[in-house]
Amino acid sequence: MTPKIVRYLAEQQPATPCLVVDVDHVEARYHALRDALPLAQIYYAVKANPAAPILERLVRLGSSFDAASIGEIHQCLTAGAQPSQISFGNTVKKVSSIREAFGLGVDLFVFDSEEELAKLAEHAPGSRVFCRLAVENEGADWPLSRKFGTTVNHARDLLLKSVELGLEPYGLSFHVGSQQTSTAAYEAAIAKVAMLFTDLSAAGIDLKMVNLGGGFPVRYRDDIPEIEQFGLAIGRAMTEHFGNALPQMLIEPGRFMVAEAGVVSTEVVLVSRRGGKESDPRWVYLDIGRFGGLAETEGEAIRYRFRTPHDGLPTGETVVAGPSCDGVDIMYEKNRVQLPHALNSGDRIELLTTGAYVTTYCSTGFNGFAPLSEHYI
Ligand SMILES: Cc1ncc(COP(=O)(O)O)c(C=O)c1O
Repeated sequence: MTPKIVRYLAEQQPATPCLVVDVDHVEARYHALRDALPLAQIYYAVKANPAAPILERLVRLGSSFDAASIGEIHQCLTAGAQPSQISFGNTVKKVSSIREAFGLGVDLFVFDSEEELAKLAEHAPGSRVFCRLAVENEGADWPLSRKFGTTVNHARDLLLKSVELGLEPYGLSFHVGSQQTSTAAYEAAIAKVAMLFTDLSAAGIDLKMVNLGGGFPVRYRDDIPEIEQFGLAIGRAMTEHFGNALPQMLIEPGRFMVAEAGVVSTEVVLVSRRGGKESDPRWVYLDIGRFGGLAETEGEAIRYRFRTPHDGLPTGETVVAGPSCDGVDIMYEKNRVQLPHALNSGDRIELLTTGAYVTTYCSTGFNGFAPLSEHYI
């Protein structure tokens, strides 16, 4: 929690639940990533937080953007990005979206299937395409490998086919899974990509780019390796496998760029022990829950840290849930949170490192609760 956010919350006391983001901290993370991976071009994964103040700041810093939809492409353009700075990075795109993006001047598209490649050939003729490989997501708290990516062999066939279809076979991409805590995941993926580069080169296709995706972790409850360690591991693996013929490197950080810059301020609605006995579990219900933006608590995958007005006082194991009448609106039951005994309804508490994947996950009004309000400072 940055001093700016502490001051803002104390002075403004904005109505809860709300997210407060320190945009200067996003800038600091951008610089940290640039320092750790100086040869990589940053394509911010807009889905992590598409708020205009963040996109505008990143445009000013010279960032490029990974967009998941035509809506995100428009958000980038409105923020001042050039079409040439945008990659349409979703392997599942509507024809109308491909056409519109191409018409706007976007010419870098991902695919992972023959069917999507055919759509690109027809509706974005001549554009640069890159194929997403499926890679191991072990070590990631939020895996992505079941839904996206293809095999090395199929990628080879598809990139050869892309030439016949009049497209430019530009590169390969992967995603090691979000909140990836192991540097080895990138090393293994780079080795896989390099093999295919060599194989395709022998077949007459010289790819130009490796897109290493996102995945760079932030500190929730557990310690994680520093970004410098990821930078060193990736740099070493790229040199080992590509030598002096380094391809253009892209990274698509989402969580790393914005998570730590944000804090959710929430009110305790109820503290109760249903059943009435001291041995019953203590439940704390907040005015934000799974449907108010904390969707990544699904499976208790992302475990946020809490800050309360009673920190330092004795604590006990607590189940934490949201305010709706839905039975799945429970954030932490298996991984109970140590919260102060003194906590009571009406207390205002903070959930730290919540700048990523919160605002846009929020429902538009489930159970009549208003969407999360946002403050960019
Ligand atoms: C294609 C793509 N790139 C980048 C990201 C951002 O990943 P992260 O937030 O882990 O950095 C995602 C996340 O879902 C993604 O799907």
